[in-house]
Amino acid sequence: MGDSKSSPESPKGNPDQNPNQIAPDNIEKSLDSIIREFNDSVSVGKKHKFWETQPVGQYKDLGNSSLSEGPIEVPTPLSEVKQEPYNLPSQYEWTTCDMGSEETCSEVYNLLKNNYVEDDENMFRFNYSKEFLRWALHPPGYYKSWHIGVRAKASKKLVAFITGVPARIRVRNEVVKMAEVNFLCVHKKLRSKRLAPVLIKEVTRRVHLENAWQAAYTAGVVLPTPITTCQYWHRSLNPKKLIDVGFSRLGARMTMSRTIKLYKLPDSTASPGFRKMELHDVPAVTRLLRDYLAQFAVAPDFDENDVEHWLLPTENVIDSYVVESPNSHDITDFCSFYTLPSSILGNQNYSTLKAAYSYYNVSTKTPLLQLMNDALIVAKQKDYDVFNALDVMHNESFLKELKFGPGDGQLHYYLYNYRLRDALKPSELGLVLL
Ligand SMILES: CC(C)(COP(=O)(O)OP(=O)(O)OC[C@H]1O[C@@H](n2cnc3c(N)ncnc32)[C@H](O)[C@@H]1OP(=O)(O)O)[C@@H](O)C(=O)NCCC(=O)NCCS
Repeated sequence: MGDSKSSPESPKGNPDQNPNQIAPDNIEKSLDSIIREFNDSVSVGKKHKFWETQPVGQYKDLGNSSLSEGPIEVPTPLSEVKQEPYNLPSQYEWTTCDMGSEETCSEVYNLLKNNYVEDDENMFRFNYSKEFLRWALHPPGYYKSWHIGVRAKASKKLVAFITGVPARIRVRNEVVKMAEVNFLCVHKKLRSKRLAPVLIKEVTRRVHLENAWQAAYTAGVVLPTPITTCQYWHRSLNPKKLIDVGFSRLGARMTMSRTIKLYKLPDSTASPGFRKMELHDVPAVTRLLRDYLAQFAVAPDFDENDVEHWLLPTENVIDSYVVESPNSHDITDFCSFYTLPSSILGNQNYSTLKAAYSYYNVSTKTPLLQLMNDALIVAKQKDYDVFNALDVMHNESFLKELKFGPGDGQLHYYLYNYRLRDALKPSELGLVLL
């Protein structure tokens, strides 16, 4: 299992990767993205000493239609799962991270704040908040044993991390108990020492011990073998700051004041009955979401407990809105975004980029375009600088029209121990990992 993000090259497709072409009138391919596509295509010939030993789709099997879809290896009896942790280099030891402990959560927060995903040019680094980490790692049925750290034995300093959380993920007609693996991080000083494969094997072992045999993860790097490759799109909410910090550039023949005007949004939302989601909306939102996600080849199988956890608003973590019909009081539409700031590295004037990330959105009565425009309006009111979205689900239908510009980072999705015959289009994917 890998982790759920991308690489420093296209950091988890660090969406806060400067999207060279954020101006909608300038969406030709950037040189960067051409180089990246070239590198990605070359990497399909590359050796993967570790990943070639794992039950994942292998490059050599690409296009082999005689292979069936489904698990690559059958589960082994639990008694045959290795009972002791994998060996670490002698100066290091395993630790299970109790994210409920303020002290441990702060250590994880600081490790990630200083060592997690950066954009290609090292201008931005993801800065997941502590509240976000607790939310992301404590869904219904979570296992503390899947929150794994490595410490230096002498100093007890936390130097590496990887996590899994349980999820039911439907692949076509099959609902599979999986781990969503995320937050793989090795301290900058310990890179390229093959520590990542040990972390991945250890989380896999602990996932097996809970009788789960599959995982889902994302990365900005190309590994064997993506089930789909998505692109991040960015909608400027605070164009002046984005330009000042080098996230975006002034488009050709554009002035700052024309750019500000271009991205200006109305002061209030347009959909009658648009309001923040509340606890009593959970059953209606669950129904909406289940009906909607049924059409995608790969999507989470959410029940009411999952919806309460993943979608009920939590300040500075997850925002969700419903449209309640003013007449029938039915919940007809739903949209959501999560909060993931990035540190701005080495800028005199700004230290943080406040980014909203589109999560799950369902429209049945309100046109999706209007619903998402309302999401942009509330995000602007809450002082986000940028609103990011992947080209998954039906997102393509609103991206260009709502003035999102394509970023230069790609995000590859992977399944561990589950083969799909062919890669999916991003629009066939109904899964957003954090
Ligand atoms: C990702 C990271 C943990 C890899 O560690 P590293 O020290 O660079 O690499 P190591 O020498 O330990 O291991 C290399 C192996 O890990 C694999 N690997 C690297 N990044 C990976 C990822 N994101 N997911 C899964 N495997 C990954 C490599 O492909 C290689 O295996 P291979 O030979 O089969 O191709 C480290 O670079 C890091 O912390 N980066 C910043 C945070 C980050 O990008 N996290 C991943 C988000 S998706």
